[in-house]
Amino acid sequence: MLSVVVLISGSGSNLLALLKASENPLYPAKIVAVGSDKDAPGLEHAELYDVDTFIVEPERFSSKQAWAEKLLANVQHHQPDLVVLAGFMRILPADFVAALRGKLINTHPSLLPDFKGAHAVRDALAAGATTTGVTIHFVDEGVDTGEIIVQSKLDILPQESEHALHERIKEIERSLLVRTIEEFAIKQKDLAKA
Ligand code: GRF
Repeated sequence: MLSVVVLISGSGSNLLALLKASENPLYPAKIVAVGSDKDAPGLEHAELYDVDTFIVEPERFSSKQAWAEKLLANVQHHQPDLVVLAGFMRILPADFVAALRGKLINTHPSLLPDFKGAHAVRDALAAGATTTGVTIHFVDEGVDTGEIIVQSKLDILPQESEHALHERIKEIERSLLVRTIEEFAIKQKDLAKA
């Protein structure tokens, strides 16, 4: 069973999809903890599923480095095989990324390398793009630059609002994330056997 720590900052609908999937005994991953940089509404999903939560707020630390060290300690405490950034809206310093290399993934609401950063949906609309999508990728030291694992594309509707488009993206994102983690778990198991 793959142990997964999920980090969120928002409503946690991707987290909820993972929690629901892992209710199935055949699903090969288990969410062992959920962390956030604030009292995010999505933490309630973890509480309902009896999953441990932790909050590490940057404002309480004298430096970004000190904050990230504490966040990493909380993550490592759960000894995860995989750490998933599912709407975690902070940039993580290089040491954090290096400590989790190969087991830190992010889901991003655009077809990377297009529209990196925190406003990917808004930026795609502003650029007049006609298609966009979802990318799940490994995290490296850059912002949304790590190796791409999987992408899924969708057409932008005429006059579509940022909210409506993001909701349609998130529908795809949730199932893609559930599937990607399942595949990651299966691969890890095969590697362990080999
Ligand atoms: C997702 O679209 C994620 O890619 C982006 O923020 C959104 C988080 O949604 N960075 P939720 O909190 O999982 O509902």
